[in-house]
Amino acid sequence: MATSLIRRAITRIQTPLPTLTILRHHASEPQTKHSTPTSTSSPSLKTFQIYRWNPDSPSKPDLKSYQIDLKNCGPMVLDALIKIKNEIDPTLTFRRSCREGICGSCAMNIDGCNGLACLTKIAEEKESMITPLPHMFVIKDLVVDMTNFYNQYKSIEPWLKRKGKVGGEDGKEVYQSKKDREKLDGMYECILCACCSTSCPSYWWNPESYLGPAALLHANRWIMDSRDEYTKERLDAVNDEFKLYRCHTILNCARACPKGLNPGKQIQNIKSLQA
Ligand code: SF4
Ligand code: SF4
Ligand code: FES
Repeated sequence: MATSLIRRAITRIQTPLPTLTILRHHASEPQTKHSTPTSTSSPSLKTFQIYRWNPDSPSKPDLKSYQIDLKNCGPMVLDALIKIKNEIDPTLTFRRSCREGICGSCAMNIDGCNGLACLTKIAEEKESMITPLPHMFVIKDLVVDMTNFYNQYKSIEPWLKRKGKVGGEDGKEVYQSKKDREKLDGMYECILCACCSTSCPSYWWNPESYLGPAALLHANRWIMDSRDEYTKERLDAVNDEFKLYRCHTILNCARACPKGLNPGKQIQNIKSLQA
């Protein structure tokens, strides 16, 4: 990841260099004294309407407008948020860490769709609206309270469970065939961003009793793990009218997932194993 971070940084630094070289070259030519700024030097202004709420002030939440020049900004929504925070309003609050779609912390609602700000390109439209993940308690601005979401993840016991001997036959690793390992594809990639759960209508209405697509995807990840010896107990633990069967296979979750996963399909697998 360090390599990709460095590569990304170098790409960004290098981008303006050809422009500088060209300007210097033209500046030495006589005709440049007649030159006027071209349309390419005019700003490309875009307005971001961003949800603001401060728990320390008694006012209601509102949308605040920020205008930035896209020509002086990176291509992603997170670049715009960082620019606004650095140059216009340092009080704007949001989570971010990796800028690479790995940590899952910059999940938010961008123009009506849940997504990661660092992986979402700034739309060409003149205005965009950014709000917190839907139906979550807001801590401040775009930062939501993930406590319930993480507790639900914890409730499915997301670790390898063995009966008796912890290790494998030789007391070391618990081996897994390539074929069994492939059964975890489409699940192990989850970064727990909560884009899926907070796009699910069933989760909106029953956030405490329905586990939601992210936690159920992880439940299935451990149910399907050939090394785990608690498959039946795991199935029994989620076999509940609310925990599991609030899913009505509408598949908003699959549309929202920035990693291209399909939690609805994994939930179907748990249901079919129950049957
Ligand atoms: S498929 Fe299930 S988990 Fe996914 S959005 Fe629909 S109800 Fe929610
Ligand atoms: S399944 Fe996708 S949307 Fe849901 S938490 Fe995992 S990465 Fe995020
Ligand atoms: S900053 Fe890590 S996923 Fe966006």
